[in-house]
Amino acid sequence: MRRAQFASKLAVTSLGIMVACSPKGGSSTAVGGGAKSDRSQAVAVQPVADSAGNIHVPENYRETYQHLGTWAVANEPGVGSKELHDVYASPGAVAGYKAKGGHFQDGTILVKEVYETATDPMTTGTVSRAKTLKGWFVMVRDTNNTHAGNKLWGDGWGWSWFDAANPRKTTSTDYTADCLSCHIPAKETDWIYTQGYPVLK
Ligand code: HEC
Repeated sequence: MRRAQFASKLAVTSLGIMVACSPKGGSSTAVGGGAKSDRSQAVAVQPVADSAGNIHVPENYRETYQHLGTWAVANEPGVGSKELHDVYASPGAVAGYKAKGGHFQDGTILVKEVYETATDPMTTGTVSRAKTLKGWFVMVRDTNNTHAGNKLWGDGWGWSWFDAANPRKTTSTDYTADCLSCHIPAKETDWIYTQGYPVLK
């Protein structure tokens, strides 16, 4: 299935970040060990416990770990969330953003997954979680207006929506009609809602 393939590509990309950004130096230990050959064992992970077993929050986990999922806990009384949106940035995007003083560099790719949710009462409250993938929004940074005349490129980005069934063919036809007006509140931040991404701060 195409969707599954694309999802696993995303996962691999995130793992790529994990490898590329693994903190340098220090005493890294390989996860796993043992005889089984599993790809995860090749990745060195910084320990989070000292010799006495005191655990701390891993450094740089936002940059180096793979995002697994999100729980949205509703205000009470609340009905929970209709959708969950998970946003991924291509490898090096965050470092590039910081190096450029708060602007994404050309070639940066942002992927927003849109999930329909399931909501259940849990011990933390009324909790929504990702259930069905509806599709992806994809943006590609391009300040050189490389594809002038293409209606899916302009204002510094390439813009497209993909239904979950078809990650290779967009249904978008014109970014000014399909995307831009909704991103006007984020115009000052290059059309990106940066307030949602603590990793950029
Ligand atoms: C109904 C309004 C609306 C439309 C239409 C819309 N967006 Fe967005 N978009 C948002 C909002 C609001 C956010 C951040 C909050 C959220 O996800 O709910 C966002 C976030 C994103 C993000 C994550 C990065 C960021 O800006 O924070 C991407 C990527 C994105 N949109 C791409 C697109 C593309 C491509 C299109 C057109 C095909 C599009 N959007 C159309 C409102 C919209």
